[in-house]
Amino acid sequence: MEEKIKFHDCRSDGECCRILAIESSCDETAAAVVENGRRVLSNVISSQIALHTLYGGVVPELASRKHIEKINQVIEAALKEAGVTLEDIDAIGVTYGPGLVGALLVGVAEAKAIAYAAKKPLIGVHHIEGHVSANFIEHPDLEPPFICLIVSGGHTHLVIVRDYGEFEILGRTRDDAAGEAFDKVARAVGLGYPGGPKVDKAAKEGNPHAVEFPRAKIEGSPYDFSFSGLKSAVLNYINHAKMTGEEISVPDLTASFQNAVVESLVSRAIMAAKEYGYRKLAMAGGVASNSALREGMKAACEKEGISLYYPSPVLCTDNAAMIGAAAYYEYKKGTRHGWDLNAVPNLKLGER
Ligand code: KG4
Ligand code: ZN
Repeated sequence: MEEKIKFHDCRSDGECCRILAIESSCDETAAAVVENGRRVLSNVISSQIALHTLYGGVVPELASRKHIEKINQVIEAALKEAGVTLEDIDAIGVTYGPGLVGALLVGVAEAKAIAYAAKKPLIGVHHIEGHVSANFIEHPDLEPPFICLIVSGGHTHLVIVRDYGEFEILGRTRDDAAGEAFDKVARAVGLGYPGGPKVDKAAKEGNPHAVEFPRAKIEGSPYDFSFSGLKSAVLNYINHAKMTGEEISVPDLTASFQNAVVESLVSRAIMAAKEYGYRKLAMAGGVASNSALREGMKAACEKEGISLYYPSPVLCTDNAAMIGAAAYYEYKKGTRHGWDLNAVPNLKLGER
């Protein structure tokens, strides 16, 4: 039985709307308070990097256990830092997919308990919609429609953001996500977890043209990506060097790999902006904090007269402020989830 609760409705009176947002889809336990979708009052992140580094990658069960241990403190800190109590909060937003099921369940159960006890509306948020919405926080002028390149550890999508939370998918990866490729290459050259930032740093000292790795193109799907061939080419290069006793230059190898990824991302994003006639292009997800991708995309956008948007690094990787931004626009559209909200580990983009 659902309890009937009279909710305060920010849409009708033009008052400010504060959302307490919770994110626990992977290896960060995060909570934030966001006002009117764009003003971050607090953004608290408890990272599990030290824990998972011991195993060379995220161990799902350990992630869930760490979330349950940390989530109350993280939420308490987010409310305190924002200078608010639950009474000042208008709705609870939470990531309910995609992600690791056990990790998602911790955030979803917590959000439901708070929403029920404090009599607040509950809004389940798509994690990737959150990543895209991170762009709204620091760019007050950015409004849909625009092209967005979403590059995270689990997803690589090129989309048109038609409206808040409305996506038309132009292309996606056929195999590995961009972040996954960074993580696998990092492991292969001994840089360890988390791979992306380590490759980014090592590549700064290297020559991006030292090794010409292949750039995959998918016949008939000009906006789709493929990174598994590139990853295999890097692994073959390493094996060959080992067999012939050649020394590998980690900076040159990582710079060349990174250059191949950046080229395939930039060329498709620019092609989409031109073909569909958009002059605004945004990037989202952990890989959007990659320095070579930012530089490459900036140069290409300047050449084409396209305005480029991307969040600060802390808002590119997993955080709850981006969930608060997405939850606000969902809230305004009238999205409300019931007490039966569940974690959906393979939630598709655009699905509710
Ligand atoms: O968006 P995110 O925090 O989590 C997911 O939703 O997956 O993305 C994490 C991914 C990881 O694969 C990580 O290696 C990658 O983003 N990443 C980077 C950088 N920072 C994080 N990849 C390349 N360069 C970076 N600076
Ligand atoms: Zn993410």
